[in-house]
Amino acid sequence: MKLRDENKIDRQDFFSLLLEAKDKEGLTFNEIVGQCYMSFLAGFDTSSQTISYCIHQLAHNEDMQDKLRQEIFENLGTDFRKYTYEDILKLPYLDKVFHETLRLYPVLGFLNRICIKPYKVPGTNVVLDKGTPVLISTLGFQHNPEYFPDPLKFDPERFSEDKPLIPFSFQPFGKGPRSCIGMCYGKLQTKLGIAALISQFKFLPSPKTPRLVELDKLAKSLVMITKKGIVVRVLKLQGQ
Ligand code: HEM
Repeated sequence: MKLRDENKIDRQDFFSLLLEAKDKEGLTFNEIVGQCYMSFLAGFDTSSQTISYCIHQLAHNEDMQDKLRQEIFENLGTDFRKYTYEDILKLPYLDKVFHETLRLYPVLGFLNRICIKPYKVPGTNVVLDKGTPVLISTLGFQHNPEYFPDPLKFDPERFSEDKPLIPFSFQPFGKGPRSCIGMCYGKLQTKLGIAALISQFKFLPSPKTPRLVELDKLAKSLVMITKKGIVVRVLKLQGQ
């Protein structure tokens, strides 16, 4: 910040916008640091976590992993450096695997809102006053057997076209005007990350790989945190 300030460097990037806001709107140093931190967390950690959960599930489900690899090789070839935006988004099985990963492990386990007018919850005597913070449990919805039978089973076929979802039961990117602004980019980088890994490596469970990743429920974190990390066996594919 000092370097850019002193040398009047404008690189037309995210950081330049923050420095402009500092000058024009009085953004403080801590606010700038906070924005940068959130940008890394929201922009990258969400996708890298989803990739990790996905690989963990594919290590346990070799048939699904083979099916996905076949779809990738048949449609995009074996060199992930050549995969394009359009290519990545048109793979139906990758789409199902991606969504099922986010259903089982939504990066953000809840959405938060503040009530802007008194609201009576239908069918109850509960009235939310204006100003009440409201937490909506995405994890709760997405693990509810009423909406997703056998909810802890990893089953990408839940997202088949002929099986419409119950409205609002699946919201890994949130809903409404404050939903995720990076959804398209997040989908792209996550799917590309999965495709790049699957095209080069085979993943298998190791003795240290639990069937379901244990989440640290007491972690004071906005995004979900694993208790013991994610461990899998990685084998380089022949010829890749
Ligand atoms: C797999 C990837 C991602 C997932 C699962 C995800 C999920 C979410 C969720 C659940 C929310 C809260 C939405 C709500 O309250 O309705 C959110 C908000 C947000 N996301 Fe993402 N996200 C992802 C990728 C990204 C990327 C790549 C960026 C930026 C480049 C990003 C930037 C943001 C921002 C800035 C917000 C706050 C929006 C606001 O408050 O108006 N996200 N994301």
